[in-house]
Amino acid sequence: MFLSCYRDRILFLKHMATIKESDDLDGKFYKPADAFFAAYNNIGLTFDDVTLATLYSEVLPRETQLHTDLAEGLHLNIPIISSDMDTVTESRMAIAMALSGGLGLIHYNMSDREQLSEVSRVKNHVHGLIQEPIKTAPDQLIGDVLNLIEKKHFAFSTFPVVDTQGKLMGLLPGHVVKQRYAKRKVAEALTPRDQVQTINKKDLGRDPIAKADKFFTDHPGIHKLLVVDEQDRLHGLFTMSDVERITQERSAQFKPARDALFRLLCGAAVSATRNAFGELDRERIVAHVGALVERGLDVVAVSTAHGHSKGVGDAVRMLRDAFPKLPIIAGNVTSGAAVEYLADCGANSIKAGQGPGSICTTRIVAGVGIPQLTALYVASRSAEKKRVTLIADGGITKSGDVVKSLTLAHAVICGGIFAGCPEAPGEVMEFSGKRYKQYRGMGSLAAMKAGSAARYGHSNDASRKIAPEGVEALKEVTTSVDRVLAQLIGGIQSGMGYLGAANLAQLRDKARFIRVTPAGQREAAPHDVVELKAGS
Ligand code: XMP
Repeated sequence: MFLSCYRDRILFLKHMATIKESDDLDGKFYKPADAFFAAYNNIGLTFDDVTLATLYSEVLPRETQLHTDLAEGLHLNIPIISSDMDTVTESRMAIAMALSGGLGLIHYNMSDREQLSEVSRVKNHVHGLIQEPIKTAPDQLIGDVLNLIEKKHFAFSTFPVVDTQGKLMGLLPGHVVKQRYAKRKVAEALTPRDQVQTINKKDLGRDPIAKADKFFTDHPGIHKLLVVDEQDRLHGLFTMSDVERITQERSAQFKPARDALFRLLCGAAVSATRNAFGELDRERIVAHVGALVERGLDVVAVSTAHGHSKGVGDAVRMLRDAFPKLPIIAGNVTSGAAVEYLADCGANSIKAGQGPGSICTTRIVAGVGIPQLTALYVASRSAEKKRVTLIADGGITKSGDVVKSLTLAHAVICGGIFAGCPEAPGEVMEFSGKRYKQYRGMGSLAAMKAGSAARYGHSNDASRKIAPEGVEALKEVTTSVDRVLAQLIGGIQSGMGYLGAANLAQLRDKARFIRVTPAGQREAAPHDVVELKAGS
């Protein structure tokens, strides 16, 4: 008895010694961020220069949580944002990103009015309750309604009918909105008020979607439910398809990113433009951002190539004063001092990345910029100190790069990865049997002429000689955004599983790095085989 206890104890101590020894050895090779990057403090490292060590794990990839809080009131369900570039993010891309749990930043190479309507398109995409349904009046002609549908590209043809006081008169059903009835008045063709299903606004309760869902189940064949007040004035509209989609979303793993009113999240970029006297164009910027906020904008990004500058700091300060609660992203930067400067000016989240982007030539043209992983490390420590979040912007070509970015940052911004998707703006072109879409840097000559010159500190005057800092390129057409995201998310979750990280905070905590040699890089990619099918 005594002997066997003694033997067990010896075995246990030996086992512990082995663990400690291997821990010590692991620790000598695989270092946490602070120790690792300090050891390479004279070298700029990027994604392929390092790899992450795996750790004991009880975490299954599919169980990992990917949500991230970029600011108070800015909660994403996946840490991925589409770039504010004119060949990447307009409303279609922003809708697709938010539906998958991420965020799109609408670019600013368009007029203020266009940017407002792009944001509105996202915010109005799928409502639980459509608060401002498109209405018709009883004395309108059906032909006018048809013209409106064509002009505004509406995908629906059933409209509530209201009088001049907003009182509900009936519903114009889609099956009478036909060319053959064009000359008839809406009043002659509508379903009268007493046959239209409505619910009083005050009866919607705490869960209006559940209420509407039950209504559609209880009333087979009815696909629209109108919301009215005590005076029978129209206050909104539920459609069965919206309600079904939202009900399904509630059980999906990565839910759409929505605001408190259940609208999709949307961000927009602005630049620190100057007026004719070369001063920050305060009035225009504040008025425009105010109008964006009225449309429901969730976050504004002050996007420039050099965030550590007076103009950007002034713009951030001015927006913070004018909109105390609006989340502000600002950038781009690659130093700790720059992060602290923008945080002190009032930014909630800082974009890091100068020159890593697939279309960027800033490092070649201006000779500046820092390889992305070193930049992220340096920025991350200041972000932590200032209690702001960090967004890794640019250079991401594969899911492994996202995992490495998320060991230091709270989210990533991607441009090139999404530029070939059908949701990105631009036409598909065909060359030698392959299909492409245009992808250009916001600092390319063409993009700067279209408006983004201020981002690079130049005037928009095309006659002046300006040095482009980006190229115009093509991306092969890819699958839709949700499929591209599914690949990225799958990779992030695998990475987290390998590190035993159940959420992004644990990923940042647990990551241990080691430097890779060129031979190690070759080893990491498929080699010595004839590839039949690309892996991703
Ligand atoms: P990826 O690698 O995702 O990078 O295609 C997108 C990011 O690149 C930045 N960007 C530029 N940087 N010149 C630059 O130096 C440019 O013309 C340019 N255009 C975009 C931007 O941060 C974007 O999110």
